[in-house]
Amino acid sequence: MAVQINPSILSADFARLADEAKAVEGADWLHVDVMDNHFVPNLTLGVPVVESLASATDTPLDCHLMIEAPDRWAPQYVEAGASSVTFHVEAAAAPVRLAREIRAKGARASMALRPATPIEPYEDLLPELDMLLIMTVEPGFGGQAFLDIMLPKIRRTRELISKHGLDLWLQIDGGVSAATIERCAEAGADVFVAGSAVYGADDPAEAVRGLRAQAEA
Ligand code: DX5
Ligand code: ZN
Repeated sequence: MAVQINPSILSADFARLADEAKAVEGADWLHVDVMDNHFVPNLTLGVPVVESLASATDTPLDCHLMIEAPDRWAPQYVEAGASSVTFHVEAAAAPVRLAREIRAKGARASMALRPATPIEPYEDLLPELDMLLIMTVEPGFGGQAFLDIMLPKIRRTRELISKHGLDLWLQIDGGVSAATIERCAEAGADVFVAGSAVYGADDPAEAVRGLRAQAEA
């Protein structure tokens, strides 16, 4: 299982997004947090910014939609150039239909769970997805403390993926740092989003290499 590190541009300088994307070349994906001030109490960016960013970097974009009505909006993020689109199951009206639509438009389909949302009710949906995102903080802000109580959920999800023999990436997002990434890798995560741990470092590219080495160890 190959480890992937996805720096989150939420912790970057929004006035210099193209340069901030270049600062982490060598990362597998660039994680783009879209917030609408309804699903989460914060507001970030939308389709036009994703479109510009997609043409400014060769690193594929991993768009995490923390928004209401993802059924209506997610396809537009694929059209804007996102290579992976994550919607929250708590907000989706028809998650299977939405995952199929994202795939049909040519992107990887991913579904996210807030910390209090269990995985078990969604076991039968897993074959419809390319990635599952387990939030390890309450979504909305960077720089929050990692929720250790999510480790059993990561472990159970990895077991379900193995049980069904699926090629499904397991991403975690929130509080990932040098202090927490090894526990998450050990529990079975393979795609790691890191915002403040990358963009808060003096050398973001070096921070990505450091996190990868720890997760692979
Ligand atoms: C939070 C976002 C995260 C955020 C993570 O709701 O989904 O992607 O950027 O930031 P850190 O890594 O600082 O916890
Ligand atoms: Zn995110």
